[in-house]
Amino acid sequence: MARLGFALLLLFSSLPLLAVSKSTIEPCSGSDTCNALLGYTLYTDLKVSEVAALFQADPIAILTANSIDISIPDVENHILPSGLFLKIPTLCSCSDGIRKSISTRYKTRPADTLASIANSIYGGLVSADQIKDANSISDPVVIDVGQNLVIPLPCTCFNSTDNFLPAVYLSYVVQADDTVPAIAARYFTTVTDIMNVNAMGSPSVRAGDILAIPLPACASSFPRYASDNGLIVANGSYAISASHCVQCSCGPGNLNLYCTPASLAVSCSSMQCRNSNLMLGNVTSQQTSAGCNVTSCTYGGFVNGTILTVLSTALQPRCPGI
Ligand SMILES: *[C@@H]1O[C@H](CO)[C@@H](O)[C@H](O)[C@H]1NC(C)=O
Ligand SMILES: *[C@@H]1O[C@H](CO)[C@@H](O)[C@H](O)[C@H]1NC(C)=O
Ligand SMILES: *[C@@H]1O[C@H](CO)[C@@H](O)[C@H](O)[C@H]1NC(C)=O
Ligand SMILES: *[C@@H]1O[C@H](CO)[C@@H](O)[C@H](O)[C@H]1NC(C)=O
Ligand SMILES: *[C@@H]1O[C@H](CO)[C@@H](O)[C@H](O)[C@H]1NC(C)=O
Repeated sequence: MARLGFALLLLFSSLPLLAVSKSTIEPCSGSDTCNALLGYTLYTDLKVSEVAALFQADPIAILTANSIDISIPDVENHILPSGLFLKIPTLCSCSDGIRKSISTRYKTRPADTLASIANSIYGGLVSADQIKDANSISDPVVIDVGQNLVIPLPCTCFNSTDNFLPAVYLSYVVQADDTVPAIAARYFTTVTDIMNVNAMGSPSVRAGDILAIPLPACASSFPRYASDNGLIVANGSYAISASHCVQCSCGPGNLNLYCTPASLAVSCSSMQCRNSNLMLGNVTSQQTSAGCNVTSCTYGGFVNGTILTVLSTALQPRCPGI
């Protein structure tokens, strides 16, 4: 309820530009960034690297967020088919008191119009008017080829929680055949949740509306000074961290973040837990008279180019698999 109030207050108090398309406005303060996802449907066949360039995202991070195999050779030149739906990981920043994706840039090509850039190339995540305003374009009919346009994209984080559980928010462009119950079912959330998050009075949507969809996720608890502090991974996907050295997966069985050495790792700092022969992700168990002694080596974040590892032991009533 609190965020609904905030959103309405903001809508009524200022910034007529933001009322153009229905999208969620999240107030924020300071200059913190958080992890969010943009829902994007490919308008044509594109290489992984081309999609990454459109959003200034890490190509490997795009693939892992969508559980696409990254072990195939020359994966960045792999062609993704037109119509494919992708979740693009983005850093959501706080600017002028509102959450916004770190603005991406687009270099115009012959035959581009503001409408084609907005609706096709960026899949409706931005409107032609928003591009016009963000770039102070006075005559939208004439756009020079090779112009570097700022493309503002919507994102929200809401403290990376939903109903007090870890969640990562997907900015989703409603398609022609979508209904809110179908969207809720597809993303393992509820109609009530989607309505609350988006401050909707009724569960009706139109094609082109942008919804914030909370996806159940696994949270991390890396220290503040870790460069991947706040890492959050949606259920059923994985993320790559620590300069491509560590991969962290989430679900489907439980929502505990599970990190292991990444298969594509090039040269990485040690991933072995100190005072043990365990590697990141290893778990061993030992039956003792008091119960089962479970020892695990887990990932603790990326600090100054070093992979932090945490060795912990817990006594459980029974050993797994016994
Ligand atoms: C955000 O979540 C953290 C714990 O994950 C909590 O300590 C903090 O109070 C929350 N902040 C807000 C503004 O809800
Ligand atoms: C996570 O995803 C799996 C399917 O991949 C699903 O069965 C499970 O219910 C999801 N968990 C949550 C908490 O949504
Ligand atoms: C420990 O982790 C490494 C790297 O993921 C893996 O290759 C190895 O099989 C694991 N060993 C045990 C005992 O689980
Ligand atoms: C559990 O295992 C750890 C590491 O092997 C060891 O240091 C600890 O003493 C063990 N605890 C018990 C109760 O056996
Ligand atoms: C990272 O390295 C710099 C320079 O070596 C040092 O000043 C800083 O304290 C380090 N930060 C952490 C968190 O270790």
